[in-house]
Amino acid sequence: MLAGKRILIIIGGGIAAYKVLDVIRRLKERGAEVRAILTRSAKEFVTPMTVGALSGEKVFSELFDPTEEQDIGHIVLSRDTDLILVAPATANLMARMANGIADELATASLLAAAAPIIICPAMNQRMWAHPATQRNAARLAADGIRFIGPAEGRMAERGEAGVGRLSEPMEIVAGVEAFFAEAEQPKALAGRHVLVTSGPTIEPIDPVRFITNRSSGKQGHAVAAAAARAGARVTLVSGPVSIPDPPGVSVVRVETAREMFEAVFAALPADIAVMAAAVSDWRPSEVAGEKIKKVAGGPPPLSFIENPDILATLGHTAQRPAIVVGFAAETTNVEANAARKLAAKGADYIVANDVSPQGGVFGGDRNSVRILSASGVEVWPTLAKDEVADRLIGMIAERLG
Ligand code: C5P
Repeated sequence: MLAGKRILIIIGGGIAAYKVLDVIRRLKERGAEVRAILTRSAKEFVTPMTVGALSGEKVFSELFDPTEEQDIGHIVLSRDTDLILVAPATANLMARMANGIADELATASLLAAAAPIIICPAMNQRMWAHPATQRNAARLAADGIRFIGPAEGRMAERGEAGVGRLSEPMEIVAGVEAFFAEAEQPKALAGRHVLVTSGPTIEPIDPVRFITNRSSGKQGHAVAAAAARAGARVTLVSGPVSIPDPPGVSVVRVETAREMFEAVFAALPADIAVMAAAVSDWRPSEVAGEKIKKVAGGPPPLSFIENPDILATLGHTAQRPAIVVGFAAETTNVEANAARKLAAKGADYIVANDVSPQGGVFGGDRNSVRILSASGVEVWPTLAKDEVADRLIGMIAERLG
Protein backbone atom coordinates (compact mmCIF):
# COMPACT_ATOMS: atom_id res chain seq x y z
CA MET A 1 0.00 0.00 0.00
CA LEU A 2 2.80 2.46 0.81
CA ALA A 3 5.12 1.27 -1.95
CA GLY A 4 6.46 4.25 -3.87
CA LYS A 5 4.49 6.77 -1.81
CA ARG A 6 6.45 9.98 -1.25
CA ILE A 7 6.06 11.10 2.34
CA LEU A 8 7.56 14.28 3.74
CA ILE A 9 7.94 14.10 7.51
CA ILE A 10 8.20 17.36 9.38
CA ILE A 11 9.68 16.73 12.79
CA GLY A 12 8.81 19.24 15.50
CA GLY A 13 10.83 20.01 18.59
CA GLY A 14 9.30 17.86 21.28
CA ILE A 15 10.48 15.10 23.57
CA ALA A 16 8.47 12.61 21.46
CA ALA A 17 10.63 13.31 18.38
CA TYR A 18 12.63 10.14 19.06
CA LYS A 19 9.50 8.03 18.42
CA VAL A 20 9.33 9.45 14.91
CA LEU A 21 12.55 7.64 14.08
CA ASP A 22 10.60 4.42 14.45
CA VAL A 23 7.80 5.81 12.26
CA ILE A 24 10.36 6.57 9.53
CA ARG A 25 11.81 3.08 9.79
CA ARG A 26 8.40 1.42 9.51
CA LEU A 27 7.27 3.60 6.61
CA LYS A 28 10.50 2.71 4.79
CA GLU A 29 9.95 -1.00 5.50
CA ARG A 30 6.60 -0.66 3.75
CA GLY A 31 8.20 0.79 0.66
CA ALA A 32 7.56 4.52 1.19
CA GLU A 33 10.10 7.14 0.10
CA VAL A 34 10.61 9.30 3.14
CA ARG A 35 12.18 12.73 3.27
CA ALA A 36 12.45 14.76 6.44
CA ILE A 37 12.58 18.36 7.52
CA LEU A 38 13.57 19.16 11.08
CA THR A 39 12.43 22.33 12.77
CA ARG A 40 15.26 24.22 14.42
CA SER A 41 14.19 23.02 17.83
CA ALA A 42 13.76 19.43 16.65
CA LYS A 43 17.54 19.32 16.35
CA GLU A 44 17.67 19.56 20.14
CA PHE A 45 15.94 16.17 20.31
CA VAL A 46 17.10 14.16 17.28
CA THR A 47 20.08 14.72 15.01
CA PRO A 48 19.88 15.24 11.25
CA MET A 49 22.45 12.45 11.03
CA THR A 50 20.18 9.86 12.65
CA VAL A 51 17.14 10.94 10.65
CA GLY A 52 19.17 10.88 7.43
CA ALA A 53 20.55 7.43 8.19
CA LEU A 54 17.04 6.04 8.67
CA SER A 55 15.39 7.82 5.75
CA GLY A 56 18.32 7.30 3.41
CA GLU A 57 17.83 10.86 2.18
CA LYS A 58 19.38 14.23 2.83
CA VAL A 59 17.66 15.94 5.76
CA PHE A 60 16.62 19.57 5.46
CA SER A 61 16.31 22.24 8.08
CA GLU A 62 17.47 25.70 7.06
CA LEU A 63 15.29 27.96 4.94
CA PHE A 64 17.94 30.06 3.29
CA ASP A 65 20.86 27.66 3.30
CA PRO A 66 22.33 28.21 -0.18
CA THR A 67 23.39 24.59 -0.61
CA GLU A 68 20.04 23.20 0.46
CA GLU A 69 18.05 25.64 -1.65
CA GLN A 70 20.16 24.74 -4.66
CA ASP A 71 19.76 21.09 -3.99
CA ILE A 72 16.02 21.32 -3.69
CA GLY A 73 14.03 24.45 -2.79
CA HIS A 74 11.43 24.48 -0.02
CA ILE A 75 8.64 24.88 -2.54
CA VAL A 76 9.72 21.78 -4.45
CA LEU A 77 10.18 19.91 -1.21
CA SER A 78 6.55 20.43 -0.25
CA ARG A 79 5.16 19.91 -3.76
CA ASP A 80 6.89 16.70 -4.81
CA THR A 81 5.18 14.66 -2.17
CA ASP A 82 2.01 12.61 -1.73
CA LEU A 83 1.58 13.33 1.96
CA ILE A 84 3.07 15.58 4.61
CA LEU A 85 3.21 14.09 8.08
CA VAL A 86 3.92 16.46 10.97
CA ALA A 87 5.16 14.57 14.03
CA PRO A 88 5.46 15.46 16.78
CA ALA A 89 3.23 18.50 16.16
CA THR A 90 4.05 20.62 19.19
CA ALA A 91 1.68 23.29 20.51
CA ASN A 92 4.01 25.92 19.10
CA LEU A 93 4.19 24.30 15.66
CA MET A 94 0.39 23.95 15.57
CA ALA A 95 0.02 27.62 16.50
CA ARG A 96 2.36 28.64 13.70
CA MET A 97 0.55 26.42 11.21
CA ALA A 98 -2.88 27.72 12.24
CA ASN A 99 -1.71 31.28 11.65
CA GLY A 100 0.20 30.75 8.42
CA ILE A 101 3.54 31.71 9.94
CA ALA A 102 6.49 30.75 7.74
CA ASP A 103 9.49 31.51 9.93
CA GLU A 104 11.70 28.56 9.04
CA LEU A 105 11.97 25.84 6.42
CA ALA A 106 9.46 23.53 8.14
CA THR A 107 6.70 26.12 8.42
CA ALA A 108 7.42 27.68 5.01
CA SER A 109 7.06 24.23 3.45
CA LEU A 110 3.76 23.68 5.26
CA LEU A 111 2.46 27.00 3.98
CA ALA A 112 3.54 26.17 0.43
CA ALA A 113 2.15 22.63 0.61
CA ALA A 114 -0.09 21.31 -2.11
CA ALA A 115 -0.18 17.80 -0.66
CA PRO A 116 -2.56 16.69 2.08
CA ILE A 117 -1.27 17.13 5.64
CA ILE A 118 -1.66 14.87 8.66
CA ILE A 119 -0.49 16.10 12.04
CA CYS A 120 0.29 14.04 15.14
CA PRO A 121 0.05 16.39 18.11
CA ALA A 122 2.25 15.79 21.13
CA MET A 123 2.50 18.03 24.14
CA ASN A 124 1.85 18.25 27.85
CA GLN A 125 -1.84 17.61 28.61
CA ARG A 126 -2.36 21.13 29.94
CA MET A 127 -0.94 22.63 26.77
CA TRP A 128 -3.26 20.43 24.69
CA ALA A 129 -6.31 21.36 26.78
CA HIS A 130 -5.52 25.09 26.67
CA PRO A 131 -8.20 27.08 24.80
CA ALA A 132 -5.53 28.54 22.50
CA THR A 133 -4.39 25.08 21.37
CA GLN A 134 -7.98 23.88 21.02
CA ARG A 135 -8.72 26.95 18.90
CA ASN A 136 -5.68 26.21 16.73
CA ALA A 137 -6.68 22.55 16.40
CA ALA A 138 -10.19 23.53 15.29
CA ARG A 139 -8.74 26.01 12.79
CA LEU A 140 -6.40 23.38 11.36
CA ALA A 141 -9.23 20.84 11.09
CA ALA A 142 -11.36 23.44 9.30
CA ASP A 143 -8.44 23.97 6.89
CA GLY A 144 -8.73 20.28 5.99
CA ILE A 145 -5.77 19.05 8.01
CA ARG A 146 -6.18 15.56 9.42
CA PHE A 147 -5.18 14.42 12.90
CA ILE A 148 -3.73 11.24 14.31
CA GLY A 149 -4.01 11.47 18.09
CA PRO A 150 -3.04 12.82 20.52
CA ALA A 151 -3.29 9.74 22.70
CA GLU A 152 -3.96 9.52 26.39
CA GLY A 153 -1.40 8.37 28.92
CA ARG A 154 1.65 9.33 30.95
CA MET A 155 3.55 12.48 30.11
CA ALA A 156 7.31 12.96 29.97
CA GLU A 157 6.99 15.09 33.09
CA ARG A 158 7.02 12.91 36.15
CA GLY A 159 3.63 12.23 37.68
CA GLU A 160 1.66 13.88 34.88
CA ALA A 161 -0.87 12.11 32.68
CA GLY A 162 -3.71 12.97 30.33
CA VAL A 163 -4.44 13.58 26.65
CA GLY A 164 -1.44 14.88 24.74
CA ARG A 165 0.89 11.95 24.09
CA LEU A 166 2.15 11.27 20.60
CA SER A 167 0.28 8.28 19.16
CA GLU A 168 2.33 5.09 19.08
CA PRO A 169 4.44 4.67 15.91
CA MET A 170 2.33 1.75 14.68
CA GLU A 171 -0.86 3.79 15.11
CA ILE A 172 0.68 6.58 13.10
CA VAL A 173 1.69 4.13 10.36
CA ALA A 174 -1.84 2.65 10.38
CA GLY A 175 -3.29 6.18 10.10
CA VAL A 176 -1.06 6.89 7.11
CA GLU A 177 -2.10 3.62 5.47
CA ALA A 178 -5.76 4.40 6.12
CA PHE A 179 -5.27 7.81 4.54
CA PHE A 180 -3.87 6.32 1.33
CA ALA A 181 -6.54 3.59 1.29
CA GLU A 182 -9.26 6.24 1.43
CA ALA A 183 -7.52 8.50 -1.09
CA GLU A 184 -7.36 5.63 -3.58
CA GLN A 185 -11.00 4.63 -3.27
CA PRO A 186 -12.73 5.47 -6.52
CA LYS A 187 -14.60 8.72 -5.89
CA ALA A 188 -18.32 8.32 -6.48
CA LEU A 189 -18.90 11.93 -7.50
CA ALA A 190 -15.63 12.72 -9.30
CA GLY A 191 -16.26 15.21 -12.10
CA ARG A 192 -19.71 16.19 -10.78
CA HIS A 193 -20.83 19.62 -9.67
CA VAL A 194 -22.95 19.60 -6.54
CA LEU A 195 -24.89 22.68 -5.46
CA VAL A 196 -25.98 22.87 -1.82
CA THR A 197 -27.94 25.51 0.08
CA SER A 198 -27.64 25.70 3.84
CA GLY A 199 -28.49 27.80 6.88
CA PRO A 200 -31.31 30.24 7.40
CA THR A 201 -32.07 33.35 5.41
CA ILE A 202 -32.61 36.67 7.14
CA GLU A 203 -35.20 39.11 5.89
CA PRO A 204 -34.82 42.75 6.92
CA ILE A 205 -37.59 44.78 8.51
CA ASP A 206 -35.53 47.96 8.79
CA PRO A 207 -31.77 48.62 8.82
CA VAL A 208 -31.35 47.01 12.26
CA ARG A 209 -34.11 44.40 12.53
CA PHE A 210 -34.84 41.20 10.65
CA ILE A 211 -36.79 37.96 10.85
CA THR A 212 -35.07 34.62 10.58
CA ASN A 213 -35.31 31.03 11.87
CA ARG A 214 -33.37 28.58 14.02
CA SER A 215 -31.46 26.77 11.26
CA SER A 216 -27.81 26.22 12.27
CA GLY A 217 -26.63 25.10 8.83
CA LYS A 218 -25.13 21.95 10.34
CA GLN A 219 -27.01 19.49 8.10
CA GLY A 220 -26.50 21.47 4.88
CA HIS A 221 -22.81 22.05 5.59
CA ALA A 222 -22.42 18.34 6.36
CA VAL A 223 -23.95 17.49 2.96
CA ALA A 224 -21.52 19.86 1.22
CA ALA A 225 -18.57 18.30 3.08
CA ALA A 226 -19.78 14.77 2.22
CA ALA A 227 -20.10 15.68 -1.47
CA ALA A 228 -16.56 17.09 -1.44
CA ARG A 229 -15.28 13.91 0.19
CA ALA A 230 -16.99 11.96 -2.58
CA GLY A 231 -14.87 13.87 -5.09
CA ALA A 232 -17.41 16.43 -6.32
CA ARG A 233 -16.80 20.09 -7.02
CA VAL A 234 -19.12 21.71 -4.51
CA THR A 235 -20.76 25.13 -4.40
CA LEU A 236 -22.33 25.89 -1.05
CA VAL A 237 -24.73 28.83 -0.94
CA SER A 238 -25.13 29.64 2.72
CA GLY A 239 -27.18 32.03 4.78
CA PRO A 240 -25.60 33.50 7.93
CA VAL A 241 -24.29 30.69 10.16
CA SER A 242 -21.76 30.48 12.96
CA ILE A 243 -20.12 27.21 11.91
CA PRO A 244 -16.91 26.98 9.85
CA ASP A 245 -16.86 26.51 6.08
CA PRO A 246 -16.52 22.84 5.15
CA PRO A 247 -13.09 21.95 3.74
CA GLY A 248 -12.70 21.78 -0.03
CA VAL A 249 -15.95 23.59 -0.81
CA SER A 250 -16.48 26.96 -2.47
CA VAL A 251 -18.83 29.04 -0.33
CA VAL A 252 -21.12 31.85 -1.50
CA ARG A 253 -22.47 33.85 1.44
CA VAL A 254 -25.93 35.39 1.20
CA GLU A 255 -28.48 36.87 3.57
CA THR A 256 -31.93 37.06 2.00
CA ALA A 257 -33.97 34.49 0.08
CA ARG A 258 -33.71 36.59 -3.03
CA GLU A 259 -29.91 36.70 -2.76
CA MET A 260 -29.91 32.95 -2.27
CA PHE A 261 -32.10 32.53 -5.35
CA GLU A 262 -29.68 34.62 -7.45
CA ALA A 263 -26.63 32.76 -6.15
CA VAL A 264 -28.20 29.35 -6.83
CA PHE A 265 -29.10 30.16 -10.41
CA ALA A 266 -25.71 31.82 -10.99
CA ALA A 267 -24.02 28.56 -9.92
CA LEU A 268 -25.77 26.41 -12.55
CA PRO A 269 -25.25 24.11 -14.33
CA ALA A 270 -25.01 21.45 -11.63
CA ASP A 271 -25.48 17.68 -11.67
CA ILE A 272 -26.99 17.55 -8.21
CA ALA A 273 -28.78 20.12 -6.08
CA VAL A 274 -29.43 19.59 -2.38
CA MET A 275 -31.54 22.42 -1.00
CA ALA A 276 -31.06 22.14 2.74
CA ALA A 277 -31.44 25.83 3.58
CA ALA A 278 -34.31 26.94 5.78
CA VAL A 279 -35.41 29.70 3.44
CA SER A 280 -37.83 32.20 4.94
CA ASP A 281 -41.09 31.63 3.13
CA TRP A 282 -42.03 35.28 3.52
CA ARG A 283 -40.34 38.62 3.88
CA PRO A 284 -41.68 41.92 5.18
CA SER A 285 -43.46 43.54 2.25
CA GLU A 286 -41.73 46.81 2.96
CA VAL A 287 -38.28 47.40 4.35
CA ALA A 288 -38.13 50.72 6.21
CA GLY A 289 -35.22 52.90 5.14
CA GLU A 290 -34.69 54.13 8.72
CA LYS A 291 -34.98 52.35 12.03
CA ILE A 292 -38.68 52.16 12.94
CA LYS A 293 -39.29 54.27 16.06
CA LYS A 294 -41.05 53.10 19.16
CA VAL A 295 -44.11 55.34 19.28
CA ALA A 296 -47.07 55.80 21.60
CA GLY A 297 -49.52 54.33 19.10
CA GLY A 298 -48.18 50.80 19.71
CA PRO A 299 -46.13 48.42 17.55
CA PRO A 300 -46.12 48.97 13.80
CA PRO A 301 -48.16 46.53 11.71
CA LEU A 302 -46.01 44.12 9.75
CA SER A 303 -47.21 42.61 6.51
CA PHE A 304 -45.45 39.95 4.50
CA ILE A 305 -45.10 38.88 0.92
CA GLU A 306 -43.95 35.52 -0.35
CA ASN A 307 -40.33 34.82 -1.23
CA PRO A 308 -39.44 33.04 -4.46
CA ASP A 309 -39.34 29.27 -3.93
CA ILE A 310 -35.80 28.36 -4.95
CA LEU A 311 -36.32 24.60 -4.85
CA ALA A 312 -39.62 24.65 -6.78
CA THR A 313 -38.15 26.95 -9.43
CA LEU A 314 -35.06 24.78 -9.77
CA GLY A 315 -37.16 21.62 -9.90
CA HIS A 316 -39.07 22.87 -12.93
CA THR A 317 -36.42 24.85 -14.82
CA ALA A 318 -34.85 23.83 -18.14
CA GLN A 319 -31.48 23.84 -16.36
CA ARG A 320 -32.76 21.40 -13.75
CA PRO A 321 -29.91 19.33 -12.25
CA ALA A 322 -30.24 15.58 -12.86
CA ILE A 323 -30.98 15.03 -9.17
CA VAL A 324 -32.84 17.56 -7.04
CA VAL A 325 -33.22 17.03 -3.31
CA GLY A 326 -35.33 19.13 -0.96
CA PHE A 327 -35.73 19.13 2.78
CA ALA A 328 -38.98 19.35 4.67
CA ALA A 329 -38.70 20.70 8.17
CA GLU A 330 -42.07 20.00 9.76
CA THR A 331 -43.48 19.99 13.23
CA THR A 332 -46.70 18.12 12.37
CA ASN A 333 -47.78 15.49 9.81
CA VAL A 334 -44.17 15.19 8.72
CA GLU A 335 -44.66 12.49 6.13
CA ALA A 336 -47.87 13.75 4.52
CA ASN A 337 -46.47 17.25 4.16
CA ALA A 338 -43.23 15.94 2.73
CA ALA A 339 -45.09 13.79 0.18
CA ARG A 340 -46.99 16.84 -1.01
CA LYS A 341 -43.71 18.73 -1.37
CA LEU A 342 -42.15 16.01 -3.51
CA ALA A 343 -44.60 16.69 -6.31
CA ALA A 344 -45.09 20.42 -5.77
CA LYS A 345 -41.36 21.15 -5.84
CA GLY A 346 -40.40 18.82 -8.67
CA ALA A 347 -37.85 17.08 -6.45
CA ASP A 348 -36.49 13.53 -6.75
CA TYR A 349 -36.12 13.20 -3.00
CA ILE A 350 -37.47 15.00 0.02
CA VAL A 351 -35.59 14.55 3.26
CA ALA A 352 -38.23 14.96 5.94
CA ASN A 353 -37.32 15.77 9.50
CA ASP A 354 -39.36 16.53 12.53
CA VAL A 355 -38.15 19.85 13.90
CA SER A 356 -40.55 20.09 16.80
CA PRO A 357 -38.58 21.55 19.76
CA GLN A 358 -38.57 18.28 21.74
CA GLY A 359 -36.55 16.58 18.95
CA GLY A 360 -33.55 18.93 19.27
CA VAL A 361 -32.86 18.79 15.52
CA PHE A 362 -32.38 22.53 15.04
CA GLY A 363 -28.86 23.32 16.18
CA GLY A 364 -28.28 19.73 17.34
CA ASP A 365 -25.74 17.25 15.97
CA ARG A 366 -28.14 14.41 15.24
CA ASN A 367 -31.05 14.02 12.90
CA SER A 368 -33.89 11.54 12.38
CA VAL A 369 -34.98 11.63 8.78
CA ARG A 370 -37.32 9.91 6.38
CA ILE A 371 -36.49 9.87 2.68
CA LEU A 372 -39.44 10.26 0.32
CA SER A 373 -39.13 9.53 -3.38
CA ALA A 374 -41.26 8.15 -6.20
CA SER A 375 -40.46 4.68 -4.88
CA GLY A 376 -41.85 5.33 -1.39
CA VAL A 377 -40.61 6.16 2.07
CA GLU A 378 -37.38 5.05 3.75
CA VAL A 379 -37.08 5.59 7.49
CA TRP A 380 -33.50 6.09 8.65
CA PRO A 381 -32.38 5.60 12.23
CA THR A 382 -31.32 8.63 14.26
CA LEU A 383 -27.80 9.42 13.04
CA ALA A 384 -25.16 12.11 13.37
CA LYS A 385 -25.77 14.82 10.78
CA ASP A 386 -22.45 13.83 9.14
CA GLU A 387 -23.71 10.27 8.74
CA VAL A 388 -27.04 11.45 7.32
CA ALA A 389 -25.00 13.49 4.83
CA ASP A 390 -22.76 10.56 3.83
CA ARG A 391 -25.73 8.26 3.35
CA LEU A 392 -27.59 10.85 1.33
CA ILE A 393 -24.61 11.46 -0.94
CA GLY A 394 -24.16 7.68 -1.29
CA MET A 395 -27.80 7.26 -2.27
CA ILE A 396 -27.62 10.08 -4.82
CA ALA A 397 -24.34 8.78 -6.30
CA GLU A 398 -25.90 5.35 -6.74
CA ARG A 399 -28.93 6.83 -8.49
CA LEU A 400 -26.68 8.84 -10.83
CA GLY A 401 -24.79 5.65 -11.62
O1 C5P B 1 -41.99 24.75 1.54
P1 C5P B 1 -40.92 24.53 2.52
O2 C5P B 1 -40.19 25.77 2.94
O3 C5P B 1 -41.28 23.69 3.69
O4 C5P B 1 -39.90 23.63 1.70
C1 C5P B 1 -38.68 23.26 2.20
C2 C5P B 1 -37.73 22.97 1.07
O5 C5P B 1 -37.84 23.96 0.05
C3 C5P B 1 -36.29 23.03 1.51
O6 C5P B 1 -35.54 22.14 0.69
C4 C5P B 1 -35.92 24.48 1.25
O7 C5P B 1 -34.52 24.62 1.06
C5 C5P B 1 -36.69 24.77 -0.01
N1 C5P B 1 -37.15 26.15 -0.14
C6 C5P B 1 -36.60 26.96 -1.11
N2 C5P B 1 -37.06 28.25 -1.27
C7 C5P B 1 -38.05 28.72 -0.50
C8 C5P B 1 -38.62 27.91 0.50
C9 C5P B 1 -38.13 26.63 0.66
O8 C5P B 1 -35.69 26.53 -1.79
N3 C5P B 1 -38.45 29.96 -0.67
